Amino acid sequence: MTTSRPWMIYGASGYTGKIVIEEALARGHRPVVAGRSPDKVRPIAESFGLPWAAFDLTEVSRIIPALADVHLVLHCAGPFIHTSANMVTACLARGVHYLDVTGEIPVFAAIFDRDEEARRAKVTLLPGVGFDVVPTDCLAKYVSEKIPNARFLEIAFASLGQSSAGTAKSAIEMSQRGNFVRREGALVPAPLGDNLHRVRFSDRERDVVSIPWGDLETAYKSTGIANIATYWAMPPTLARGLKVFGSGIVSAMQNDRLRETLKRFVDRHVDGPNAEERERGRSFVYAMARDAAGKTAEAWLETLEGYAFTTKAAVYSVERVLQENPIGALTPSLAFGSDFVLSIPTTKRFDSLPSMP
Ligand SMILES: NC(=O)c1ccc[n+]([C@@H]2O[C@H](COP(=O)([O-])OP(=O)(O)OC[C@H]3O[C@@H](n4cnc5c(N)ncnc54)[C@H](OP(=O)(O)O)[C@@H]3O)[C@@H](O)[C@H]2O)c1
Repeated sequence: MTTSRPWMIYGASGYTGKIVIEEALARGHRPVVAGRSPDKVRPIAESFGLPWAAFDLTEVSRIIPALADVHLVLHCAGPFIHTSANMVTACLARGVHYLDVTGEIPVFAAIFDRDEEARRAKVTLLPGVGFDVVPTDCLAKYVSEKIPNARFLEIAFASLGQSSAGTAKSAIEMSQRGNFVRREGALVPAPLGDNLHRVRFSDRERDVVSIPWGDLETAYKSTGIANIATYWAMPPTLARGLKVFGSGIVSAMQNDRLRETLKRFVDRHVDGPNAEERERGRSFVYAMARDAAGKTAEAWLETLEGYAFTTKAAVYSVERVLQENPIGALTPSLAFGSDFVLSIPTTKRFDSLPSMP
């Protein structure tokens, strides 16, 4: 799949940026490879024979001219709480579509607040085109379509591999905010490690606990359901530890120096999964919508490992946006429909599961 309309990957020197470039090339694209450091970006671009650009994100006035020749930016430089706002402003000023791979709740909220500006500029602002939140958002939308006046939405996922440095650093940045659930339309604090229970996934049952996944913002926008909880599969001993030490962890993480130290540690010691691990891994998602009368709809997804999923979902999203020009600040399921996730290779969706032995 090729498109003649030029587009840019920003954050090319990162773990995610590099694997997204490989996927884009495999799909026949020739994106402009960009980032803040010419010394890092140039050799990457030259190794693939791609055009490149280097500019930092500190001033909108420096970003705008760099977007002169592109129709779309796929933003892969996080934590997005520090990088998204100026890039969004520059894209709006230039009439350039903005996509990113964030999972950070305040970033989603800030971007959705700019819907009117996006419509005026006739562009899409589409955050979360990675594993966070494409599979969960599409499955949430799918079950919500079966229960027209749903009041409750539960989403759980199990993604079993290791995390990249950038994901770990984004989690460190977000950890100071603590955990949330959505109740009657508002985000309300909830203890970390809360609501440990078992969820049946398509392969087997797992223990899950409440965590602040991006769907607390995106599924609310996609489905309008007022009560949402998001859960992550983790070993019960870890979940219980999180519950006991959770509030201490949140207050410790409010210390700027501690977060900076932890992020430096992550940069030195954490690396994302290698190609073989990405190839081998699988992810599992569950969603359930329920109305006030207790009528429920459930569905399950099985799909690629998280980073393998992210590369494909991000590049497929670029293709869909360049072809279809959706307008406004959107979620993946609002932009492309709840079946979008089924276009990701090997993804299977189930409406029911055989009973367990
Ligand atoms: N949605 C998902 O499922 C999903 C999947 C994968 C990744 N992500 C997110 O993507 C982000 C990147 O992850 P990663 O593992 O690729 O991280 P990484 O390897 O640490 O790379 C981070 C990239 O961001 C750039 N960057 C960081 N701060 C910047 C700033 N202030 N201005 C300009 N560029 C900046 C870095 O540039 P330098 O090299 O110049 O420092 C680098 O290119 C994280 O927020 C992560 O959570 C989300």
